[in-house]
Amino acid sequence: MTESELPVQSVRSMPSRSRQLRALVALATVALLSACADTPLDTMAPESPIANEINNLFIGVGIVAIIVFVLVQGAVIYMARRFRVDAPDDEDDVYPDEEFPAQIHGNTRLEIGWTIVPTVIMAIVGFFTLGTLFNLDDVSASDDQQIEKVVVVGQQWWWEFQYHLDDDGVADIVTAGELVLPVGEEILLEVTSRDVIHSFWVPALNGKRDAVPGRSSPWTIEAGSVGRFPGECTEFCGLSHAYMEKWAVGLELADWKTWAANQMADATAPAEGTDAAAGWEVFSAQCASCHVINGLTSLNDTDAVDSVELYDGANRLIDKQTQVSGAAPNLTHIASRSSFAGGIFELYENVDEVDYLDLASAGDLNRGQLEAWIINAPEQKANAWDSPTGQRGMTPFEALSDDDVDNLVAFLMTLD
Ligand code: CUA
Repeated sequence: MTESELPVQSVRSMPSRSRQLRALVALATVALLSACADTPLDTMAPESPIANEINNLFIGVGIVAIIVFVLVQGAVIYMARRFRVDAPDDEDDVYPDEEFPAQIHGNTRLEIGWTIVPTVIMAIVGFFTLGTLFNLDDVSASDDQQIEKVVVVGQQWWWEFQYHLDDDGVADIVTAGELVLPVGEEILLEVTSRDVIHSFWVPALNGKRDAVPGRSSPWTIEAGSVGRFPGECTEFCGLSHAYMEKWAVGLELADWKTWAANQMADATAPAEGTDAAAGWEVFSAQCASCHVINGLTSLNDTDAVDSVELYDGANRLIDKQTQVSGAAPNLTHIASRSSFAGGIFELYENVDEVDYLDLASAGDLNRGQLEAWIINAPEQKANAWDSPTGQRGMTPFEALSDDDVDNLVAFLMTLD
């Protein structure tokens, strides 16, 4: 570098350095803000064998990266200090040649060394990374399981889970927001979408799998322990992408069987003359064109069937068509769930204190939030219910009277 280039270079490097600084501040802010999300997603608290493997790989590669960083930065700092030449006292003075250390060009042993060492490090990291990637992609789940597969369907802005307990091609259970799993079983998932690209992720149980419309991506999930594990949509998908949550729930096998048997039962109409019966009337007039309740609603009588036809590519049911709405979550057993509105609100205030199977009987209803949701959903979670080009999300129902809303909630709570 000649002397005349020096000032130009340093002037040029100034704005780029301040840009870097700004980028760094922005990154730190994003990191801080994401730590404030309602549902903390801890990627370093694995609760399944495969999540454990991902975590171990992350820690292993992280340790290697930290060692390399410390060695390289340490060498840079050491050399900068060790071989520093003090500026001459006098401006007219020049650097006397004898103050410079011997100037060397090329060192075969060093160059071979710093080619081989990183290659070996990258080969070791690559070996373990590829091993984990192949394990992640291996979806040949064991034969010993209760579930043939679960079709996972992303839709702006919630998740539907269609359980196939056998291989007859017909879903036996259709639910939304919560993926309930028997502990210790690796379950095959088929991830897809009804509209735009979403991404399925429950960090405690596995990595991410994109949900692409018209495509079925195989994936697996296993709950290693009993509990509720939060998940998010991790592909930007519009207005309420940040509020497209879900829960995976691990249950002991016997409990899971109880859950599954209950989920397969149709709902029954509430007894005449009760609040719930009045609520069912409101529901069938206002809600049933989008929400399905097995045994009570029939999509074949409503306009919603047309919207189902639109979503033909997304593993729609053929025989039990009445179970899949294509427009909104199936509510047949909503009272058995711990959350609603795409997993963002807890349906009961004491979800962490009550056993999952006892929620409907011992749960402390989060009534205020549920009513607020029914009355004006878009105010609780941004959506596009009035979009002229593509309606998405629940309509506000501000015209409902207080009695209507009370009765509606009474009806929903019979759906256990
Ligand atoms: Cu769905 Cu982001």
